[in-house]
Amino acid sequence: MRVHPVRAAGAARQGSKCARTAVALRDLSDDRGWPRIVPSMSFIATISPRSTGKSTITAWLLHALHERGYPVVGFDADESEQLYRWWEARPVGSYPFEVHKEASTRFHVEAPKKLPEGHIGAVDCGHLENHAGIGWSVLRVADLAIVACSATNSDVERMDELPMDFFINQVVPKRADKAKPKTWVLLCRVQPSSVVAPKGIRKTLVEDDWNVFTTEIPAIQKYASTAEGVPIHAAGSHFDELVTEMEQRGLIKK
Ligand SMILES: Nc1ncnc2c1ncn2[C@@H]1O[C@H](COP(=O)(O)OP(=O)(O)OP(=O)(O)O)[C@@H](O)[C@H]1O
Ligand SMILES: [Mg+2]
Repeated sequence: MRVHPVRAAGAARQGSKCARTAVALRDLSDDRGWPRIVPSMSFIATISPRSTGKSTITAWLLHALHERGYPVVGFDADESEQLYRWWEARPVGSYPFEVHKEASTRFHVEAPKKLPEGHIGAVDCGHLENHAGIGWSVLRVADLAIVACSATNSDVERMDELPMDFFINQVVPKRADKAKPKTWVLLCRVQPSSVVAPKGIRKTLVEDDWNVFTTEIPAIQKYASTAEGVPIHAAGSHFDELVTEMEQRGLIKK
């Protein structure tokens, strides 16, 4: 039985809050008369204690949101510049949005200046054990934190060791709203043949008061192949499904 090292007192389950806090979107028309979705949030941060699939998730989520009509901007908040390099070497028709390098402890000051109004900024963070300062800065302005967890016991243990919930709670006094960002765990790199293990991981996380997306990202070649020069088409992918779930949960809204 795992022991949870730190549990912030009174940390409420967040799911029920989402519907209340989601701000309604306005459908505006752009210059050509096409309806444009104006999302109710600004930054979505992909975080985890170690290499789990954050950059892959951020790249695919950016495409999935874009293809569903959300204006997006990518932010690479990892010194490895993985996301930025994928964007720089993008093939024609892929990554049809900006990606900025912003691996800085001043992310909360600089990134909002680079996010046009009505856009969602999807942020790829470095792993939090080694990049705590940047991670904190990102979480100061994140509306939603997606915790990438690659559905193994060792990944959940790493979350406990950080500890992840303590890390997120520490940033609350520094945030404008003095509240925790909405936080949802995304099980990723799930072995397609393995049903029991992800179920057990999910149960453990839920018992530990984490919100866990129903959508799971399997370990498949399509996602493993994410690389410089490789196009991404997210329609019909698990990330398309994730956007639907985010809409249904009121985390983003049309
Ligand atoms: N759904 C997936 N299926 C198969 N392989 C995946 C999947 N997601 C990520 N990978 C692979 O796992 C490895 C780590 O992924 P990625 O670089 O996205 O993780 P990361 O969390 O950004 O790592 P770091 O913390 O080092 O930046 C890569 O080799 C990537 O191709
Ligand atoms: Mg990465």
